[in-house]
This record gives sequence, structure tokens and C-alpha cells, in this order.
Amino acid sequence: MRHAPFPIGHAEREAWLRHMTAAVESVDLQPQIREAFLDYFESAALAMMNRADPSAARS
Ligand code: HEM
Repeated sequence: MRHAPFPIGHAEREAWLRHMTAAVESVDLQPQIREAFLDYFESAALAMMNRADPSAARS
């Protein structure tokens, strides 16, 4: 699990999704390709979560 050393909670998931979405929006894709990317990122980012709320735990 290469992400294990990095706490990934809601804030990290949202930040990652925001950047991946911006990357997808920055190129001209067919609508169904765009949707396929965004659907994958949505579920992959959920699967990567390994903490309930690491941001709160660190403060
Ligand atoms: C400091 C934090 C992070 C580091 C250092 C990191 C590092 C990496 C690395 C090295 C890869 C492999 C890239 C490749 O194979 O070329 C990867 C893949 C990936 N990362 Fe991250 N990552 C981080 C945070 C996140 C977060 C916050 C998310 C989503 C919530 C995320 C989602 C993914 C996904 C979906 C993949 C591809 C699937 C996989 O290889 O398991 N990562 N990451």
C-alpha cells in the first residue's frame, strides 16, 4: 500500500479530486471520456482514504 505513510482523510480527498478535476477540465475531451475519468477519480479517491479526519488529528 504505497499511500499508507500518508494520512488521507476528507480534506486530502477533496484536494486531490479538485486537482484531478482541474487537470481533466484543462484538456478538450469527448464528454464520455471526461465522465469516465471523473467517475474513476471519484471512486479511486474514496478507496484511497485511510483516516477518518487526519487534518483534525494533526492540529
Ligand atoms: C503526499 C501524498 C501522496 C503521495 C506522496 C502519493 C504518491 C503516489 C504515487 C507515487 C503513486 C503512483 C504513481 C505511478 O504509478 O506512476 C500514486 C498513485 C495514486 N494516488 Fe497518490 N499520493 C498521495 C496522495 C494521494 C491522495 C490524497 C489521493 C486520493 C485521495 C491519491 C490517489 C492516488 C490514486 C488513485 C493513484 C493510482 C492508483 C494507485 O496506484 O493505487 N494519492 N500516488
